[in-house]
Amino acid sequence: MKIVAFFGSPRVHGNTDLLLEEALKPAREAGHEVVLFKLNFMNIRPCQNCGGCEKTGACIVNDGMKEVYDAIRIADRFILASPIFFFALSAQTKAMIDRCQAFWSEKYLLKKTIPAGPHGRKGLLIVVGGMKKEDGIHCAETTAKAFFRTISVPEHATVSFLSVDAKGEILNHPTAMKDVYEAGKRLIS
Ligand SMILES: Cc1cc2nc3c(=O)[nH]c(=O)nc-3n(C[C@H](O)[C@H](O)[C@H](O)COP(=O)(O)O)c2cc1C
Repeated sequence: MKIVAFFGSPRVHGNTDLLLEEALKPAREAGHEVVLFKLNFMNIRPCQNCGGCEKTGACIVNDGMKEVYDAIRIADRFILASPIFFFALSAQTKAMIDRCQAFWSEKYLLKKTIPAGPHGRKGLLIVVGGMKKEDGIHCAETTAKAFFRTISVPEHATVSFLSVDAKGEILNHPTAMKDVYEAGKRLIS
């Protein structure tokens, strides 16, 4: 199986990073191919709403999204991992998602769905926020659902954590590491 993972935090070794690496462990242990995009360190311009993708389903902006588009097309499993920033997915994550408007055009205007391989296409959303309020999770979930459906991923699970703020604090959470490991295991089962 091919697994594509998106790391949406700017904080290396932070909470999202730790959660994502743990979620990827079952896939790595099983020898699956993992492609990890560290979005903060990539050159991904925000969508320009230029309409360039509407007739072909292909984005005309030439940047780091090229390898993301290629990976999304052929992967079987997808992990989107982001901190909550201002009650939503991080800007790094959202910029990548917005650029998937090209897939939206392909699917909804040109009526072409990305074909699934023999393992189907499934997703996992991992979000972590420092506050107690759940609005950020709901907002992230709504956007992630639109993202997954746009890239022809018909089902996804969500694992979320609140009140985790300091760098690496997730390691003090009683169940988080086990929760994401198990979620990663279910993703490839
Ligand atoms: C710009 C910014 C905005 C934030 N907004 C929220 C928020 O709206 N809700 C929340 O629960 N946490 C918020 N936080 C806290 C982060 O979600 C929290 O620190 C998280 O653990 C960061 O994960 P990371 O270590 O992977 O970067 C915000 C942090 C930053 C830097």
